[in-house]
Amino acid sequence: MGMISRHRKSDPISSPVALVTGAASTLGTAICLKLARQGFRIALHYGMSREKTFRLQAELNRQDARSFTVQANLSKTNQVSSLVRRVIRQWGRLDFIVNNASLFEPTNPQKGAWDQWQRLFTVNSITPYALAQVARPYLAKAKGSIVNIGDIYGEMPILKAHAAYSVSKAGILFLTKYLAVELAPEVRVNAVSPGVISFPEKYTDQKRKKLIQRTALKRQGTPEEVAEAVWFLASNQFVTGQILRVDGGRFIS
Ligand SMILES: NC(=O)c1ccc[n+]([C@@H]2O[C@H](COP(=O)([O-])OP(=O)(O)OC[C@H]3O[C@@H](n4cnc5c(N)ncnc54)[C@H](OP(=O)(O)O)[C@@H]3O)[C@@H](O)[C@H]2O)c1
Repeated sequence: MGMISRHRKSDPISSPVALVTGAASTLGTAICLKLARQGFRIALHYGMSREKTFRLQAELNRQDARSFTVQANLSKTNQVSSLVRRVIRQWGRLDFIVNNASLFEPTNPQKGAWDQWQRLFTVNSITPYALAQVARPYLAKAKGSIVNIGDIYGEMPILKAHAAYSVSKAGILFLTKYLAVELAPEVRVNAVSPGVISFPEKYTDQKRKKLIQRTALKRQGTPEEVAEAVWFLASNQFVTGQILRVDGGRFIS
């Protein structure tokens, strides 16, 4: 990915390859559509959302973009090797990884919380590390990069009753800097830290308004604005170890 340029479908072999985890999620979908428009072939990873991922693939087909779907349970770090293997078997290269998949759950210290800490840490922090290690030779060959999707709650200890989620997101943000050093100079590693983009369905209107009111820009962001940031970090060849907040100024207000 050292030299990124727009590739057309007529030139598929030289098109860069991206792996997006949790591809059919709200943010994942916008990221895949953005990368496809920039000429990437995309490995659409999913855990449980098979149908939704096939629908995304159909949408990409309509846009003349190449993709394939690949399932892996990211709470099992031993599935990471086969995930990378399947991408390499399909297209023979890997230029870019977006670690977008994540578990978002409240922490209940009374009920099995320790298992939950382990699960959230595995999916949100440990698997992205494992994926980076397994994919390293391919990313290095391509002079590629990784973008981790964090959360401003990984930098602000204010999300009540979400200790495991917040600390695991702090983990992936620190991991971003750590890997940026460890994988340099061949591979760049950056993160996007979104603020309020979409709300869990159960959030009341009142809660949504309150969260929006807390952002400096007084609105929620769009998945496309997150995807733009991912693309910036993928394409700028002199940026590594950075955390780009796409949070409407939530962090500073
Ligand atoms: N939405 C926001 O406002 C917001 C704000 C800040 C940060 N973020 C971050 O942005 C990213 C995307 O958020 P989102 O709201 O669009 O998505 P989301 O609804 O939280 O979905 C997360 C994705 O992770 C995948 N996943 C979870 N556990 C998995 C497992 N064990 N194995 C395989 N896949 C697994 C799921 O795939 P399957 O459904 O296929 O299982 C799902 O597609 C996340 O990292 C999130 O923390 C989002």
